[in-house]
Order: sequence, then C-alpha cells, then structure tokens
Amino acid sequence: MTNASPTSAAIDDLRTQLAAVGQDHILTFWDQLSAPQRDLLIADIASIDLAHVPQWVEKYVKGKPSFAPTGTVEPPRCYAFDDSSWDIDHYRLIGEALLRAGKVAAFTVAGGQGTRLGYDGPKGCYPGSPITRKPLFRVFAEWLIAANHRFGAAVPWYIMTSPLNHDETVAFFESHNHFDLDPASIMFFAQGVMPSFDMTTGRILLADKHRIATNPDGHGGSLRALAASGALRDMRDRGIEQISYFQVDNPLCRVVDPIFLGLHTAAPDSSGEMSTKVVSKVEPGEKVGVVAQVDGITQVLEYSDLSADLTEAREPDGRLRLRAGNIAVHAISVDFVDRLNAGGACQLLFHRAEKKVPCVDLRTGQVTEPTSPNGIKLEMFVFDAIPLCGENDTAKSSIVYEVDRVDEFAPIKNAKGNDSPATSAALQTERVARWLEWRKHPVPRSTDGTPDCTLEVSPITAMDRKGLQSLMLPEIARGSEVVL
Ligand code: UD1
Repeated sequence: MTNASPTSAAIDDLRTQLAAVGQDHILTFWDQLSAPQRDLLIADIASIDLAHVPQWVEKYVKGKPSFAPTGTVEPPRCYAFDDSSWDIDHYRLIGEALLRAGKVAAFTVAGGQGTRLGYDGPKGCYPGSPITRKPLFRVFAEWLIAANHRFGAAVPWYIMTSPLNHDETVAFFESHNHFDLDPASIMFFAQGVMPSFDMTTGRILLADKHRIATNPDGHGGSLRALAASGALRDMRDRGIEQISYFQVDNPLCRVVDPIFLGLHTAAPDSSGEMSTKVVSKVEPGEKVGVVAQVDGITQVLEYSDLSADLTEAREPDGRLRLRAGNIAVHAISVDFVDRLNAGGACQLLFHRAEKKVPCVDLRTGQVTEPTSPNGIKLEMFVFDAIPLCGENDTAKSSIVYEVDRVDEFAPIKNAKGNDSPATSAALQTERVARWLEWRKHPVPRSTDGTPDCTLEVSPITAMDRKGLQSLMLPEIARGSEVVL
C-alpha cells in the first residue's frame, strides 16, 4: 500500500462487508489511491445503504418489475375548471385564507439532469420566457413576489437540487440577488443519490477508481430529502401546513393556487394528503402520465407503462378515456410527508432505466464511454406516494383538479419538437393573448388562429387575466413583441 490510513484491519473489514453483498470490486484500485482519494471512496461507500443492495440487484437490475396496471383501470373523478357543478369560489376562498395565514410553502424539484434539453446547467437557469428570456427560477420568483403581495404573507420557497447541480444553483441565486426575494425565505437542499449498477453483473459501477457512479434518486427522493434536510422541521417552525409542489420545467405553473389548495384541504372526498393537477391530454401519444383509478385506487400511470389499448381508448363522445394528464403539480401536506418518513426514510418503489453510464473498466482502470446502455439507474417517482393517501379513512383519497392547459402547462423538456422552448413560448404567448382578448383588447392572429405576435407578461403584472383589468394596454401590431 502506498498510503497508511485507514488501517488495513478496517479495510479488511470493509472488504468483507462489501463481499457479503457482492460488491468488493469497489476496492479494486485501493492500493493505487492517494489518502484524499481513499477518503472520498470511503465516503461514497458510506452513503450507500449496503444492506439493501442485494435486494435491489435481484429485484430491479436482474428483474424488470412491471408497472403496467393489472386491475380494472377507470378514469378518476375530476374537479374540472369548466364544470359548474362544484363551487369553485368556495374553494378559492379557503385556499386564500390558508395563504393569508402563511400556511403554504412553494416547493420546486430541480434536481434533474435536463439531458433531453441539452442545456449545460441547472434547468432552472434556462431562459424560459419568450421575449425577456427570464430564467425559469426568476419566473417562479416573480410569481412568489406577486403572491406575497396579494396575500400579505410570505410564501417560503424550498428548492430541491441534486449533488450534481446544488452549488451551481445556489451560486445562480446569489449572483441574481435572489431575484429580489428575501434570502431567508429560500431554502436549498440536495436530494439523495443511488448507485448505478452494471446491467449484466449487478455490480455497482465506478465513475473513477475512487468514485462510485451515482445518479439522483428521482423526484420521489424529495419526500425523504424534505425530512432528512431539515426542510420539514423548518416548515413546522414557520407554521407551514401545505406544500405546493411543482417541477422546474413549466414556466406557466401557478406556483401557489388558492383553488387547488382549497380543494385539497376541504373537498369532502380529499384526504388532504396529496392531490394532483391535470390537463386533458391532447392526443393519445402525448408524453404525460395519466391519473387513473386502478381497482378503485387513485394513481399516476406513466405513459410508457400503458398498453396501446388503454392509451387510445375513447369515451362514446370521442374524448380519450384516460385523458387526465399529470402536469406534476401536487398539493402535499406536511403531515403526510411526516407520516411517510415515520418508520425511517420514505421508501417508494424504484423505477429502473437502462442508460449509458461512463465507468471504469475493472481490468484496465481506464474510464470507458459506452456506446450502448450498460447501466441501470434506479429512481423513485413522487406520484407513487398517491396510493398511500387516505390510509386512515377509506372514504377519502387523493383528489384530482383539472385545469386549463393554456393557463398552466407549457413545459420545456426537449431541445426541439414537442415540449421544447418553441412550443412553450407559443403557449406562453397564447395565454397572454387570451387574457387580452378577454379584456376585449385586439390581438393579431394568423389564419391558423395562432397569435401573430409574441407576448409576455410578468406574474408581478398579472397572476391571472383579472390582473390585466386596470392596466393601460398598448396596441399590438402584427409580428411585434410586447412585454407587459
Ligand atoms: C414528468 C412525469 C410525467 C408528467 C410530466 C409533466 C415522471 C416520471 N413523469 O415527466 O408523469 O406527465 O412530468 O411534465 O416524472 N427531478 C428531480 N430529481 C430527479 C429527477 C427529476 O428533481 O432525480 C425533477 C426535474 O428537475 C424536473 C422534474 O423532476 O423538474 C421532472 O423530471 P423528468 O424526469 O424530466 O420527468 P418527465 O419525464 O418530464
């Protein structure tokens, strides 16, 4: 050995522990490592739940658990925005009271790697608004500034990063003066990671001779990270009862929505634990999960787990049967997150993904870039917590609120095509166009009906169409860009 510490007895012990779970190859290069490298490797090993490794390998690496529904699949009951059979104003008032009482926090999951977008940086830094090219984080910050003003109480903002983008995310906020929010109202924490496995041997891959290859543990990891990071305790200290959860990729997200919060906490069939916003799917192939009832239990079925029959099934009136498209906006109670972590860190099912993972060749010690998938990444999905709602009262469960797509959903996921910056910009413009037309303000449109202009409104100017009511509006010329 070239370095003395830790003791050889301790390493023998570690090697035995690793061998017991089939992973002693992790120490293959131990003798070649410097003391700091050894420390890093020891820390990486310590971060893995070794006792569970054999079970993960058996179940998820060698096995391929199916998430395809096996029971009766029905559409869920939805509270739809355009259905007058429920009292939308009643629930709006309840949600507004919660916000005024300072009982709501905003929560962004921003730990994803954003590979599909091809953007080199945390996705929240991506310039997502169509004209001023505001970073997505600024769009949400402006929403919070507007909400703080409207409800007269601060909505604290919790942001989950991953170890891969944490420092960069925090530095971005610092260099942008926290987008004019009080830094004390923002808390960042990193989600956990999972080791990446060799898909044929089940061995944990090495990213370097002294580093284990890892991946963020999925947005479902947020439910344990909220507890582990102290964010949940911080929420309790601030009197927060409800969490408004949303993804970093949707600039049209209503960061806190009184109607949704009111329904979630007070609808007669709501457990008040975890609720979901949906939009009606535009076509069978749209890549969104759908909310469905499987044997009477509400859950989200990911598009990739649905058969063509289920995806394409239609109602007699021609609408898609499973059309409740999950936009990944949830209201979640602090009590529910506490309950999920009561017996140890919240453990949801893992979903496996076959990926190309650069890794060390154990024979040569060289890092190789695979040309085809060689690794298995395991991730938890937050919506797998939905079936756990209402365990104490079977009459109550997770509820679903259907909103207008143009008002609330314009994700930026891919560099081109669907859900790209271009489609998002078009939807962002369409939303403002509709708000203006509601005020009877003319908006030039092309022959195909789309706005012949680009429009952008800051949430500080207007959180909804009523926000434009008292504004002096400029004339909108064909082909122009107008920021309100
Ligand atoms: C997701 C949903 C899909 C939904 C769609 C709506 C899944 C599996 N599917 O798809 O049902 O219809 O959004 O837009 O989620 N994230 C983390 N940490 C991670 C992984 C992801 O924080 O380890 C965050 C990302 O930063 C992002 C969000 O989770 O904000 C979405 O992740 P992504 O993997 O891109 O989900 P989608 O496939 O877009």
